[in-house]
Amino acid sequence: MHKPLVIVTGGCGYIGSHTVLDLLSNGFDVVSIDNFSRSKSYALDGIEKISGVRIINHAVDLCNYAVTQQVFDQYSDVAGVIHFAAFKSVPESVQQPLLYYKNNFESLVNVLQCIKKRNIQNVVFSSSCSVYGDINSLPVSETTPLSNPKSPYAYTKVVGERIVNDAAPAYGVSAINLRYFNPVGAHVSGMLGELPIQRPDNLVPVITQTAVGKIEKLTVFGGDLPTRDGSCVRDYVHVMDIAKAHTLALQLMMHSDKLIETINLGSGTGVTVLEAIKTFESLSGVSLNYEIGAPRDGDVVEIFSNPIKAREMLNWTPEHNLTSMMGTAWKWQQYLDQNQLLN
Ligand code: WQD
Repeated sequence: MHKPLVIVTGGCGYIGSHTVLDLLSNGFDVVSIDNFSRSKSYALDGIEKISGVRIINHAVDLCNYAVTQQVFDQYSDVAGVIHFAAFKSVPESVQQPLLYYKNNFESLVNVLQCIKKRNIQNVVFSSSCSVYGDINSLPVSETTPLSNPKSPYAYTKVVGERIVNDAAPAYGVSAINLRYFNPVGAHVSGMLGELPIQRPDNLVPVITQTAVGKIEKLTVFGGDLPTRDGSCVRDYVHVMDIAKAHTLALQLMMHSDKLIETINLGSGTGVTVLEAIKTFESLSGVSLNYEIGAPRDGDVVEIFSNPIKAREMLNWTPEHNLTSMMGTAWKWQQYLDQNQLLN
């Protein structure tokens, strides 16, 4: 039976690779475009081990329109594009803003030009809760006004959404921007997860690397903040739940008239850093070496989502709880170490 084809840019990245798995398990054929600038080809092995499918990946630079066009020209009857490919480190974007503006905008524009040229009807854009900037009222919903984004990375998502929202209706394309809160965890098999390309900035990989001794001591950025235990609050969501939302978004567009929507992907529940640490310690039996330090520049103190729109539009509600997020992240870290992957 004919399977609808999806082109996934950044398909070897953290959320991209997990989304590829969800698409495959939902009857899609998938082709990836990923130049491994922030990912590893190992993700293709993990996808194959889990799904039995070796997807095609075109390792081309999406900032090069000519080669990007050549890839898109190989495929007809594409059901949609899911565009993950972008640089996503907040601190790196502060140190190298032009690298981020060039890469994230040039690749997005090139992909949209190919979508137009190939008459592809649906696009999902990978956005982020960091577009909200400083939070004045909680929970955050899609209509919450955006205040000043805290980093060039966040700006590339604010402007990226605008580029999508301008281009899609102009070219008769449906588009859904998905604003991730904090994606964490790994595939339940323990054979796919976030590949450690460089020292992690994000909390959960820092926790698991501290647990195995790759990081000597974890610093909790802020312990006397106006929250229930003094540490920052975030809305953590399992990466497999985030992946599922992408498949649902594409399926919605495939079965709807033209639409342009922006949807939060959060659980609606805020968790503090200290609660995350304690959850990890109790499930792993590992006592983490951590200290309380100063708040991190650019961090918001508290953010969590109003998840109603995702529930109503996508029929999406996260299934994995914090224990599963931490447990799968821990299982993946142990798999990495046991297999000497990418040390
Ligand atoms: C979570 C909490 C830290 C590390 C960023 C991006 C966002 C998305 C996810 C791309 C914060 C605290 C962290 C540590 C700590 N990225 N922390 N010690 O900053 O909420 O979001 O990553 O889509 O766009 O902005 O995630 O995991 O870095 O931090 O105390 O060593 O953990 O202060 O409160 P963040 P994070």
